[in-house]
Amino acid sequence: MARGSAQIKIMIRKREIFICANRRAGGAGCISQGSIDVLAKLIQRARERGDHVTITKNVCMGYCGEGPNVKIRGGAYFHHVTVDDVEDIFEKEQAFHAQNQDE
Ligand code: FES
Repeated sequence: MARGSAQIKIMIRKREIFICANRRAGGAGCISQGSIDVLAKLIQRARERGDHVTITKNVCMGYCGEGPNVKIRGGAYFHHVTVDDVEDIFEKEQAFHAQNQDE
């Protein structure tokens, strides 16, 4: 390969899962639908898994009636999330991250 023609592609993508922890007037919103329990489980599993995924409390995602709402950075939304969904979300985030490392 000729000098200077090599393409070096380095992709650094922060791995992050967002969870809405928004409280809305009148009791609606993700907190009243259980997002704090999901947040705690996400943090617990992120530490246990050790796969360098940041868990970030987010403001309203615009799906207030479908909470708790979770989103993978750059990827899918998840609605009506429970603590039982957390492991599946980590698996989907890991697959998404792996897929986007190859592009
Ligand atoms: S309060 Fe969670 S999406 Fe609006």
